[in-house]
Amino acid sequence: MRKSQLRLFTAFFVVLSFIFTSLPSAAPVLAAWPEPVRGKHAMVASQHELASKVGVEIMKKGGNAVDAAIAVGLALAVVYPEAGNIGGGGFMLIRTSDGKAHAIDYREMAPAAATRDVYVDSAGNLIRGEGSSTIGYRASGVPGTLAGFEMAYKKYGSKKLTWSQLVEPARLLALNGFSLSERQAVLFYSYRGNLSKYAESNRIFLRSGKYYEEDELFRQPDLAATLGRVERNGAKEFYTGSTARLIADDMKAHGGLITLNDLKNYKAKEREPISGTYRGYKVISMPPPSSGGIVMLEVLNILEGYDIASMGYNSAAKFHVLTEAMRRAFADRAEFMGDPDFSTVPVDTLIDKAYAKKQASTIDLVRASKSTEIGHGDIPGGESMDTTHFTVADASGNVVTNTYTLNDLYGSAVTAKGTGVLLNDEMDDFAARPGKANMFGLIQGEKNSVQPGKRPLSSMTPTIVLRKDGSFWFALGARGGPRIISAVIQSVINVIDHGMNIQAAIDAPRIHHQWFPDEILYEPYGMSPDTMNILKGYGHKFTSSPGYVATATGIMVDDKGVRLGAIDSRSDGKAVGY
Ligand code: DON
Repeated sequence: MRKSQLRLFTAFFVVLSFIFTSLPSAAPVLAAWPEPVRGKHAMVASQHELASKVGVEIMKKGGNAVDAAIAVGLALAVVYPEAGNIGGGGFMLIRTSDGKAHAIDYREMAPAAATRDVYVDSAGNLIRGEGSSTIGYRASGVPGTLAGFEMAYKKYGSKKLTWSQLVEPARLLALNGFSLSERQAVLFYSYRGNLSKYAESNRIFLRSGKYYEEDELFRQPDLAATLGRVERNGAKEFYTGSTARLIADDMKAHGGLITLNDLKNYKAKEREPISGTYRGYKVISMPPPSSGGIVMLEVLNILEGYDIASMGYNSAAKFHVLTEAMRRAFADRAEFMGDPDFSTVPVDTLIDKAYAKKQASTIDLVRASKSTEIGHGDIPGGESMDTTHFTVADASGNVVTNTYTLNDLYGSAVTAKGTGVLLNDEMDDFAARPGKANMFGLIQGEKNSVQPGKRPLSSMTPTIVLRKDGSFWFALGARGGPRIISAVIQSVINVIDHGMNIQAAIDAPRIHHQWFPDEILYEPYGMSPDTMNILKGYGHKFTSSPGYVATATGIMVDDKGVRLGAIDSRSDGKAVGY
């Protein structure tokens, strides 16, 4: 071999070995996941194509990601009534093109009449059915969605579009109707038990027993009229205007808790986002009253001490440390978290790397802990089912990641008379009896007990991850109660440790553990029997009914600046870009 040939051969070999050693461990090119949707300029990923299109149109007209997110949120209140809402609340995390992050808390607030034992009967038992925290007129917290959207519009909107321009697409969808998917028609029908109990919901969603079918036009004239008034008068229409009066009157007529005064007193709040790093990548998320950001960062900090990439994506070793980390972080959730305006949440300690090390030191690599033996961590005193997520990225580098909810599917099942507005059952996110499980089986503590004016602790986890140079990499969030946190954590790990793209990361099977019940929730076909046997050998228990661990949506920007939109294959929805 001549010298020049040898040099060429050596160079070729070096390049080849570089390519192979730098390939991400999960080799995502080989996985059979759909490709994300591509958009050279902007992207909306939401759970309804019509809503995603609304967002794209807003950006094409000159609106930014915040304007688009508001319009998408309002459109989802019409085309995705199981979760999209103006009668619920949520969290919007924004990263503006100047690199600053902003968190808007528009979580529902307990009405003044909601005291500690409002959902407990005289024998000390939880009230079930009407009067409970899960269904009917007493289950709703004061909605925050419109207050939150208006705050976002005023503070971070482009100012190139008017408020009415953001509301109008939703109003038109409500007025003219849209075609129901098979899933939506079936869902109305399957919720007929709850929806038929309330006259307006029965009329609107069940057509008084003449049930909707796939492809039928679904029009909501009352909601269109409400949106028309919101378009003209702004959010105050909902809090002090005729809509407020309609809601308060209906509440009064049915023994509900929300009064005109409660609506008038509602305020969206801007909070300081929380952030940490995972293997050098900055992770930004929602602070309390969501537990999502803290639990996620605590788990990521614990996992950072293990070589997750080498353990392998679907290995027993990884599932074991992940479960142990989640068990500990959810125990902390129960003890330390609640509305920060009512009690101190030790955020800094909980998301500190040294605290995670201490937590990790209690993990045995071949033995499962028992949740009965794992309490909350040691924090020095005195330190200072139904939801939907959408993500929007515009052409100028603004990103919005927003999760909002009615809690259960169709919330409390009550549609306030004359408004077309479905109301939430978010009061169930409080610990109605501290120490006893809520509808998600979550055990929660005193810090999350019911109090007038308080916001219930949430698991919603809108999250943004930056590249090491500080530029935006990806944003995501999920629906699914406490499983949201597990879905977001594992999607982040899938990107960072396993090298998956956003679609693969969101689609990949995952697990959930929330301290109690002390069992691993796994997905159908999500874990092989031999992996499960290894974990059982360590002492882990598994649920007897496997099911999905939340559904996520997200957007990633690739190194050429292309926006990649992803909707979880577990759910409906569509990412639309341009
Ligand atoms: O805020 C929370 O954590 C819950 N209200 C979220 C509920 C939820 O995600 C139900 N979705 N499927």
